[in-house]
Parts: sequence; C-alpha cells; structure tokens
Amino acid sequence: MLKGRSLIDPMDFTKEELEEIFELAEKIIENPKEYSHVAEGKILATLFYEPSTRTRLSFEGAMLRLGGEVLGFSEPNSTSVSKGETIADTIRIVSCYADIVAMRHPKEGAPKVASMYSKIPVINAGDGGHQHPTQTLTDLLTMKTIKGKLSNMTIGMCGDLKFGRTVHSLIKAMSRYKNNKIILISPDELKIPEYIKKEILEKNNIEYEEVKRIEDVIDKLDVLYMTRVQKERFFNEEDYIRLKDSYIIDKNKLSMAKDDMIILHPLPRVNEIAYDVDNDKRACYFKQAQYGMYVRMALMAKLMGVC
Ligand code: CP
Repeated sequence: MLKGRSLIDPMDFTKEELEEIFELAEKIIENPKEYSHVAEGKILATLFYEPSTRTRLSFEGAMLRLGGEVLGFSEPNSTSVSKGETIADTIRIVSCYADIVAMRHPKEGAPKVASMYSKIPVINAGDGGHQHPTQTLTDLLTMKTIKGKLSNMTIGMCGDLKFGRTVHSLIKAMSRYKNNKIILISPDELKIPEYIKKEILEKNNIEYEEVKRIEDVIDKLDVLYMTRVQKERFFNEEDYIRLKDSYIIDKNKLSMAKDDMIILHPLPRVNEIAYDVDNDKRACYFKQAQYGMYVRMALMAKLMGVC
C-alpha cells in the first residue's frame, strides 16, 4: 500500500512496490488521457531550496497532467526561510495547504526531517550529495523500457561518483536486481564513498571494479551512466577546474562501445557528452528525462491514492 507514504530513500519501497509504480507509468504513457483528471482537486507543493530544471518542472508537469494544481517556491530567499523558519515549521504549514510535497534541499537529510513533521507525503527531490530517489525511478524505468530488463547487465557509472547523488541512489536500487556488474569510472578524487562500497556493493555481493580510464572498459558496457562534476559541492574552484573535464564521451570513444549500449545521464550535462553524440541511437538521456515525468505522475498518483 503506497497511499500516504513518503519517498525519502530509494530503498523505502519494495521491489514489488516499485513494479507497481512502473506498471502505472507504462499505462499512463500508453493512454495519458485516461489519467488526465485523476488528481482533480489535489495540490502539489514544490519546495526547492536548490536550483533545478528537470526535477521541479517534471513534478509540476506531472501534477498538471494528472489534473491537479501546483504551488511552491524555487527561490527560498523569497520565503520565510530567510527569516530563520525551520524545515519542521515550514512543512507543518505547507501540510495545511497541499496534498503532497516534493522537496529539494542542499542539506543531506532535510527531506527526511520534513517527512517526520508532515501530515502529507514528502518526496525527496534530491538532498545534497546524498540521494535522489525519483531520479532513480526515472533511471530504472528508462532501462526497463529500453533494455527490457534490470538484471544481467554491466553498468558503467562515470564521472563524479563522490558527490553524484543520482549514482548513490541508483547503486542502492540496482543492488536488488540479480547478476549486474557495476564498473565505477572516476578519478581518485571523485571515487564512490566507502560507505556505498562496504554497505551496499560488498554487503550484497555485487561484482564491481573501480577504474580510471573509460577507454579500458567501454566495450564491456550495456549501460553507460554519465554524470557531471558537481561544481556546487566543491570547496575550492581550483580542484573543480582540474577535474571538470576528466571524461568526455564523443563519437570517437563511442565507436569502441557495443551497438546496443545505452548512454544515460541525469542531466544537466556540462562537457561530459559531446553534442555530436546526441544523434547516436545509443544516446537515451533526453528520452530518460521524459520518462522522469511519467514516473513522477505514477508515483504521485500512488502516494495520493488516486490510482
Ligand atoms: N536530473 C536532475 O535532477 O536535474 P535538475 O537538477 O535539473 O532537476
């Protein structure tokens, strides 16, 4: 039963519950008109304390396409946060005005705190360098739809694995599917945090390796998950400038990859995927962003109990 629940961590829902959401998303994709009034009278609050294009707009688009309405902010300085209001108090108030909340916050754990004080479901729309569970739903639905499976794959995760919350969430979620191998491709300074290796990969006996050069492994991959170097999480600009172009996928590198490999990216991209890759049939990142809206429609419909 998903009605009334919050989504803070990708492991909050069982595999079966995730499947329920994906099945509904697939039905919505096939017949969006059938779902265009199911959330009439419902309101989504988007509380974005950090910049966003895809996540906020896909949540808002999703609610509007379900027939509901949207309120919220994307500039916290225009709200009483600037006067010192706590997350606990903000969410208590928003609970009186809306039926469901999507929250993005630079502090790890902020959406969890909000869910503890909320009367309505809270969805973590990204908390610092920690987790981004709705991006994970997006990534899983994209792989399931395009590759036709979530098991038996070699998945390369490339770029900023230290601060990239989408990678942390995706590894957690993939740990529940059988016989996947994860190849972690990053410079030393941006390696995946130890807790992800110890508590997720090793605890679940997931085969993984860490490498520095994408050219050494690209021919083995079924999925290449590219990420941006997260400028906003660096303490000094010099390190960011030194590391920002560590990996750039272009036509030349892609010529070494399998014909049916897919390239995903949570976006935004900076330099890590050359524009000449966009027209390659393996480039699935724009389609992925579209799946993000459909999966958020399904998620909110389930949490509000309207489908
Ligand atoms: N993928 C993602 O979270 O994009 P935004 O930061 O634009 O929301």
